[in-house]
Formats: sequence, structure tokens, C-alpha cells
Amino acid sequence: MNVIDLRKTIKKNSKRILIALSAVIVLAMVWEIFGAPNAIIQPINYNHKLHIEKAKLTCVDCHLFVETMAAATIPNIEVCSDCHSGEPLSKSPEEVKLLKYIESGKRIPWKKIYSVPAHVYFSHRRHVTIGEIKCIQCHGNVQELTEPASHPLWLATMKNCIKCHKENKVTYDCLACHH
Ligand code: HEC
Ligand code: HEC
Ligand code: HEC
Ligand code: HEC
Ligand code: HEC
Repeated sequence: MNVIDLRKTIKKNSKRILIALSAVIVLAMVWEIFGAPNAIIQPINYNHKLHIEKAKLTCVDCHLFVETMAAATIPNIEVCSDCHSGEPLSKSPEEVKLLKYIESGKRIPWKKIYSVPAHVYFSHRRHVTIGEIKCIQCHGNVQELTEPASHPLWLATMKNCIKCHKENKVTYDCLACHH
């Protein structure tokens, strides 16, 4: 095929080529947003539903500072060892991993799924205690999770913060969130 033929072929099929290219771009975007490369894998396959339903725990029993401080915090061995020490409570290999951390006194290296950059001020106390906003509004239905979320179920973007502030007639002055 010479160059002129090639040009003709491209011209004739330009619509198809465009569709094919668009498909590739859309796929790449889907991969970027939902794809495996960005999935967060936690060191222990922790189950929220089980602990809320069977062990009858509430969010604040583990996320100790969610009502009183800016950071909710993710619980570590001191909290887990209230119940998990010595004899395992289940036959799960995930609990074996947990007991190893507890016995050796090593921290569980949880990864944070939700975060805002350092130039943004966000306080749980302000939203949960003063604003009376439920966790589900920003974190999705955590009590139904049987394994750690691999992606944030809500994005802590400036757009999403401001959207709710407008709906609730709360300030969206730059300096309220940026110090
Ligand atoms: C037994 C302790 C425990 C209880 C009770 C608990 N959590 Fe968690 N939570 C964890 C652990 C451990 C993680 C880290 C592993 C994971 O992501 O599943 C976590 C992670 C999270 C995260 C992700 C935080 C981040 O940025 O990584 C959110 C949000 C969360 N929990 C919300 C809740 C809510 C809402 C409730 C109540 C409905 C709750 N949790 C009850 C232990 C607990
Ligand atoms: C109030 C007591 C209590 C606390 C605190 C607690 N657990 Fe548990 N956990 C249980 C009970 C009870 C079971 C067994 C439930 C069953 O299988 O019947 C369990 C089971 C487990 C299992 C194995 C079952 C499974 O498939 O997930 C893991 C892993 C686990 N817990 C992790 C944790 C971690 C991590 C923490 C700390 C962030 C924690 N637990 C804190 C009571 C607790
Ligand atoms: C108005 C939205 C909003 C509500 C409501 C909310 N959170 Fe969060 N949460 C966030 C944001 C934003 C972050 C990231 C904060 C950061 O990086 O400083 C976060 C982070 C977390 C983390 C990760 C650890 C940490 O402290 O950064 C946990 C755990 C958590 N939230 C639990 C909860 C629980 C439990 C509730 C309900 C009692 C709740 N959140 C209610 C927005 C919210
Ligand atoms: C679901 C709704 C909702 C979302 C999402 C939300 N906020 Fe808020 N925010 C509120 C409400 C309601 C208040 C007022 C609470 C009160 O004082 O009664 C508030 C108050 C605040 C304040 C205090 C404002 C003042 O008066 O000085 C700051 C700062 C703030 N939010 C930051 C953020 C940031 C940063 C995010 C995103 C990461 C965010 N908020 C997301 C509802 C929300
Ligand atoms: C309700 C809270 C809130 C308010 C009000 C707010 N911001 Fe933000 N802003 C955020 C959060 C959260 C981020 C980080 C997430 C993101 O980039 O979307 C951010 C990020 C930014 C960034 C960095 C963007 C980047 O790409 O790194 C700039 C610049 C910025 N904001 C400027 C402003 C200005 C200017 C205003 C006032 C017109 C403002 N913000 C008002 C919450 C807020």
C-alpha cells in the first residue's frame, strides 16, 4: 500500500478510526478511575460489617476521635487487642495476621483512603458533632463493607466540599478551608 492509498483508506474510515480512538481513551479513563493499578490493598482484610453486627461496636469505639477532634484516626493494635489477644476468636487466617502484629507489638501499616492535602483544614468534630452529618454522607455505607474499600466511595474534592456547603448555607470563603 502506498502513501496515497493509505491516505484514502484513512479518509474513508475516518469515522471508524475516530470511534476506535475514542473507545481507547474512554477505556483508559475507566482504567485510571476504577482500574486495579490504583486499588488500595490493606495489610489485613478487615471486615466492618462483622464487627458492627457481631461484636456490636459503633464507629466511635474504634475511630476514637471522630466526635472530638479533627482526625478520626484508624484504630491499631491497642484497640484490636481489647478483644484479640491469646486464643483466636475465629478460624480466619486474617485474624492470625492480626495476632502476629499484636504479639510482636508491631503497628498495622493501614493505608489512608480518604485524605485532603496539607493546605486544607478539615475537622470531623465540626462536621459530625456540631454539623450532625452522618458518616454515610461522605464515606458511603461502611457498615455493610465486608472487606476494606479499595477506593474512596466519595471524593474529598474542593467541588464536593463546596457543593454541600452551598446546600447547607455554610460559608465557602476560601479562608474557611485554606489557612
Ligand atoms: C473494630 C473497629 C472498627 C469499627 C467499629 C469501625 N471501623 Fe472503620 N476502620 C477500621 C479499620 C481497622 C480500618 C482500616 C481498614 C479498612 O479500611 O477497612 C477502618 C477504615 C475506615 C474508613 C476508611 C478510612 C481511610 O481513610 O482509610 C472509614 C471511612 C471508616 N472506617 C468508617 C467507619 C464507620 C462509618 C464506622 C461505623 C459505621 C466504622 N468505621 C466502624 C476499624 C473500625
Ligand atoms: C469488641 C471486640 C472486638 C474488637 C475491639 C475487635 N474485634 Fe475483631 N473480632 C471480634 C469478634 C467477636 C470476632 C469473631 C466474629 C466471628 O467470626 O464470630 C472478630 C473477628 C475478627 C477477624 C477475623 C474474622 C474476619 O473474617 O474478619 C479479624 C481479621 C478481626 N476481627 C480484625 C480486627 C481488627 C483489625 C481490630 C482492630 C481494628 C478488631 N478486630 C477489633 C471482636 C472484636
Ligand atoms: C463531611 C464529610 C465527612 C463526614 C461526615 C465524615 N468524614 Fe471521615 N473523612 C472525611 C475527610 C475529608 C477525610 C480526610 C481527612 C484528612 O485527610 O484530614 C476523612 C477521613 C476519615 C478517616 C481516616 C482517618 C483520618 O482521621 O483521617 C476515618 C477513619 C474517617 N474519616 C471516619 C469517619 C467516621 C467514623 C465518620 C462518622 C462518625 C466520618 N468519618 C464522617 C470526611 C468526612
Ligand atoms: C455533607 C455536607 C458537607 C460536606 C461534604 C463538607 N462539609 Fe464542611 N461543613 C458542613 C456543615 C453543615 C458545616 C457547618 C457545621 C456547623 O458549624 O454547624 C461545615 C463546616 C465546615 C467548616 C467550618 C466553616 C466555618 O464556619 O468556619 C470548614 C472549614 C469545613 N466545613 C470544611 C470542609 C471541607 C474541607 C470539606 C471537604 C473535604 C467539607 N467541609 C465538606 C457540611 C459539609
Ligand atoms: C469547603 C472547603 C473549600 C473552600 C471553601 C475552598 N476550597 Fe480550595 N480546596 C479544598 C479542597 C478539599 C482541596 C483539595 C482537593 C482538590 O484539589 O479538589 C482544595 C484545593 C484547592 C487548590 C489546589 C488545587 C490543586 O490543583 O492543587 C487551590 C488553588 C484552591 N483550593 C483554591 C481555593 C480558592 C481560591 C477558594 C475560594 C474561592 C477555595 N479554594 C475555597 C477545599 C475548599
